[in-house]
Parts: sequence; structure tokens; C-alpha cells
Amino acid sequence: MLSQSLARVKPSPTIAVTTKAAELKAAGRDVIGLGAGEPDFDTPQNIKDAAIAAINDGKTKYTAVDGIIELKQAICDKFKRDNGLDYTPSQVSVGTGGKQILYNALMATMNPGEEVVIPAPYWVSYPDMVLLAGGEPVIAEASLQTNFKLTADQLEAAITPKTKWFIFNSPSNPTGAGYTRAELKELTDVLMRHPHVWVMTDDMYEHLAYDDFEFCTPAEVEPALYDRTLTINGVSKAYAMTGWRIGYAAGPEKLIAAMRKVQSQSTSNPCSVSQWAAVEALNGTQDFLPTNNEIFVRRRNLVVSMLNEIEGMACPTPEGAFYVYPSIAGLIGKTSAAGTKIINDEVFATALLEETGVAVVFGAAFGLSPNFRVSYATSDEALKEACTRIQTFCAGLT
Ligand SMILES: Cc1ncc(COP(=O)(O)O)c(C=O)c1O
Repeated sequence: MLSQSLARVKPSPTIAVTTKAAELKAAGRDVIGLGAGEPDFDTPQNIKDAAIAAINDGKTKYTAVDGIIELKQAICDKFKRDNGLDYTPSQVSVGTGGKQILYNALMATMNPGEEVVIPAPYWVSYPDMVLLAGGEPVIAEASLQTNFKLTADQLEAAITPKTKWFIFNSPSNPTGAGYTRAELKELTDVLMRHPHVWVMTDDMYEHLAYDDFEFCTPAEVEPALYDRTLTINGVSKAYAMTGWRIGYAAGPEKLIAAMRKVQSQSTSNPCSVSQWAAVEALNGTQDFLPTNNEIFVRRRNLVVSMLNEIEGMACPTPEGAFYVYPSIAGLIGKTSAAGTKIINDEVFATALLEETGVAVVFGAAFGLSPNFRVSYATSDEALKEACTRIQTFCAGLT
């Protein structure tokens, strides 16, 4: 009954954790969810108002398959303003979330046997989307020692004559790690030596960058890569618009046209009302971004310091996003108060949820163990309580 290509993939583990935490909560358990990858902030009022106006103005019909011209223009303006990149509307694609954009790009380009280099830890969907599109993910493991950032040598070693894409994500989900311009330049220098490799950069967390970290993107750092780079972004995270489902990308016209073809035979246009909301998100005030980031920095610092107090845990301080990715290497082999032997990070996360009601996502889901991901996009009170429970749980390990 089911297709062979579907048999190659697994369901999203992050969605599975969020669902399990919601089920336990519904059953009356006191659960603190640190699994979800979305801000707890509400969508800003000016964006909601633009959507309401769109509904009242009857902008509720089919639109051009990959986006209204007003949104494509707003996206071109954003790329120029924030990244110094020149694109025209015909080089822009709008989809139902960043997820659909990535999916379209892979479906439009992958042939059997072709490879995609993905640094680990990675966002859970990259390898499975590559598999679904008929390609082969090649995982290039970064390490805790480089704060989970891939080195030039590691990238070089992963590239073969069959490599089609290199997927790059900074700041990263799940680690929050952001590459400096110098670090990214080392990677783009490698890519300059391999002209057959294209770059798919997922800049979803661009605006969630902290302290003095300066975001940069491959086509900006190495302009010679412009003709083989797909620069992906979206409104979901920075504008607290995860449910509106708008993501976008810019790149070579031929690739954008191929992605449009995939979308025309699947979902057609993204929600018309959401597109008008996204026009306002990109063209309207950006004043709330620093305010939100101050809150995120405070929460990041709280979580990093509380987790680093735990013996056997090591939690680097990330440059952006709203995740931390502590290592539990020092806890493997111990036994919990309820008698569970912590043999790996999946067992750790399950025991943590069952014994303390704190939901996190285990590291194996992101391709690098033994770690777990905490999303700190929740209230300070919930974070304090959750970290206290994690501390107590770990103190009880023998
Ligand atoms: C790195 C990364 N890329 C893409 C996405 C997808 O974003 P969207 O909700 O716009 O589909 C996410 C969402 O979790 C993400 O973390």
C-alpha cells in the first residue's frame, strides 16, 4: 500500500515530543514543555491588523502560485536592506512555511544517488526530506569543541563528485550556534573549490541573534556563490508567525521556476491572508525585534547557567535562535532515582519526562549524541522550574 520513498523516512521527532507532552498534560500531569520550536510571543498587532484588512478587502482568493508581487517585492527589499543581496521578484519563491520551500527545492533538484551534505547536529527535517526526494544525506558531524560548528576540513571531507547541495543553517536549530563571518568564509572558500556544489542556506533565525553576534549569509560573504545559492528565510520565528505558514527563498530564476512547478502541482499558493500579513511583517516596524531579543537573551543566560551547574552536563552559550544543546556525556551509565539506566540521550529524555514532567528532545533526533535540546521560548518562571527539576533529576542519578 505505501510507497518505497515514504518507507525511507521517519515522522518528525520534535513534533512527536510536543504531542506526547500535550497528551500527558491533557491526562492531568504537571508537564513543562521545552520541546516546541516556536516563540511564546503573540504575533505583533500591526501584522494581525494587516491580515484582518486583507480579509475585509476580499483578498481571499487564489493568488499567483508562488506569491503575490507585493510580497515578492517586500522580500527583495528585505534581502537588500538586511543582507546587501540584489534579487528581483522573478528570483523569489513564497511557500507555506520555510519547510515547504526546502521541500520544493529538494524535490525540484534531486536525482537518485545524488548527495546532500548536512552538518550535524541538524534540523530534523533535512535528512528525511533529502531521502523523500530520492537523494542521499551525507552527515558531516561537528563537535562540542567547536561549539557545534562545522570546520572547513570537515566540509571538504564530506564533498564527493556526487554532492549536489550543502545545507547550511545559522543560527542553528538545534544548537543556536551562529557562524561568524570569518568562520563562514572558511566554508565558502571550500565551496569555491567545488563548483558543482550548490548552497541551500536556511536563515530562518537571522533576526534572533544575541550579544554582539552579527548575522551573515553565504551569498553575502562570498558573492561568487550567488549563482548557486538558494537563500531561504521566513516570518515564522522572528515575527512569531509559526501558524501563518509563510516562508520564502531567493535564488537563480531557473531554480525558482522549478520550485514553482512543484508547488503548482501540490499546494498551489500559500494562504492569501497570510501573504498580506507577511507583507506587513517585512515592510512594517521592526521595533519589537530588539525587545523580544532582550527577553530571549535573559532566558538563554538563565538556562545556560542553571544547566552548567549540573555535574556531568556541559552547555555552550549559543549566539542565537532559542535553543541550547547541552551534552550529557558525563551522565551516561548512571541510574535514575526511579531505576532507569541512562544508556543514551533518548532514554535520558524519556526518563526526564516520565519522572519529572519536563519535555525536551533527545540529541539522536538531531544527529549528534549524547545531548538534548531545550527550547527556551517559554516564560522565565517555567524555565526556572524546569531547570530546577532537571537539576534535581540529575542530582538523583547514581
Ligand atoms: C532551521 C529551521 N528551518 C526551517 C523551519 C521551518 O519553518 P516554518 O515553520 O516556516 O516552516 C524551522 C522550524 O522549526 C527551523 O527550525
